[in-house]
Amino acid sequence: MHGHYETDPSVRTPLPVYDIHQDYDWNYAHAPKLSMESIDSMDPVPGQWTYAGLSVPSPLAMAAGPLLNSQWLLYYARLGFDVLTYKTVRRCERASYPMPNLVPVVSDVLTPGVPAVNAQATMGDAWAVSFGMPSKMPAVWRSDVALCRSHLASHQILSVSVVATPDATTSAVALGEDYAQCAVWAFESGADVVELNFSCPNVSTSDGQLSNQLDAAKGVLETVRAAVGDRPLLAKLGVVDDMEQIDLWIALAQLTRIGLVMINCVGARVRTVDASSNTFHFGGVSRGIAGKAIAPAVKQQFHAFAEARKRQQASVSLLPVGGIDQAEEVTWFLDRGAEAIQVATAPMLNPHWAMEIRQGMHP
Ligand SMILES: Cc1cc2nc3c(=O)[nH]c(=O)nc-3n(C[C@H](O)[C@H](O)[C@H](O)COP(=O)(O)O)c2cc1C
Repeated sequence: MHGHYETDPSVRTPLPVYDIHQDYDWNYAHAPKLSMESIDSMDPVPGQWTYAGLSVPSPLAMAAGPLLNSQWLLYYARLGFDVLTYKTVRRCERASYPMPNLVPVVSDVLTPGVPAVNAQATMGDAWAVSFGMPSKMPAVWRSDVALCRSHLASHQILSVSVVATPDATTSAVALGEDYAQCAVWAFESGADVVELNFSCPNVSTSDGQLSNQLDAAKGVLETVRAAVGDRPLLAKLGVVDDMEQIDLWIALAQLTRIGLVMINCVGARVRTVDASSNTFHFGGVSRGIAGKAIAPAVKQQFHAFAEARKRQQASVSLLPVGGIDQAEEVTWFLDRGAEAIQVATAPMLNPHWAMEIRQGMHP
């Protein structure tokens, strides 16, 4: 059993957050800065923790997404996170999708296969995510990753999320080489961990679908593993609900010594606020829904993977992400064998989130 958690909202001082009324480029250029005086004291987290096999003082990780660059990363590194993931980068520059990039949605429980959700005017605890995995040129993100690593404390872990950029003619071999190139660059720049993004339901191109193509994923993992040696690797999956596929994923992860992060949103179309008109955001194309609405789907998938891991007596790291916002949910996953948990939406809405969770962790 892990410790009991409590949160104490009275410790809050206002802190800046990602501005959803501004676009990706604006937020990239306006990362918050934090002076030493504005940070509350950090409570230690009792217990022994690892992340992708590396020792770390706490099991709370910022997921790929909210941390657009080193300034964002260092901001959250001061706010109670010892594991920080750099938003997905590529081997080439890629512009963000146009606004809106984040559309608040009604927080009904969202299970895979539900075709549409309703937008709402103000943010509750769930939203549709639409960035299209933008990336700066490698020269830019590589030097920024290096800068970031040089400013992090030695106990903090810098994970870099990468994705390939295939086109219609890209071969399976070239796809693997693309991921491998990005991973090598990330490690050369100082990343401690690389997270291979194998699923992103907010893009409709094939680079988002690897988590449901086991053969292709296997080829990519073998190529990346050969290129990076024993460095810590994670693969981020989308919805995988077929038991046979889940068993195969555990076997593949064990074979290639990778940890599995799950899940990268649940895809759905997003009806505009004026639901009576039955019109849709994003040209009616599905986007990834993040936040509280996907919490049950994440629990279900994590449970199925944990069972498969037990059946196979495997030692694969499982890292849940999606809809975790309460201390009880952190405990739920850790008690069931999660190596650590990742969060995006909760700390974007409340930058004090990790400090509040840590504050309540008692032996
Ligand atoms: C603003 C934002 C940007 C995101 N960008 C990425 C990304 O670049 N790569 C990725 O793998 N996931 C991305 N995600 C998905 C998150 O990593 C996470 O899987 C998802 O938000 C579910 O977790 P949550 O409910 O705690 O937000 C993004 C999510 C948000 C909210």
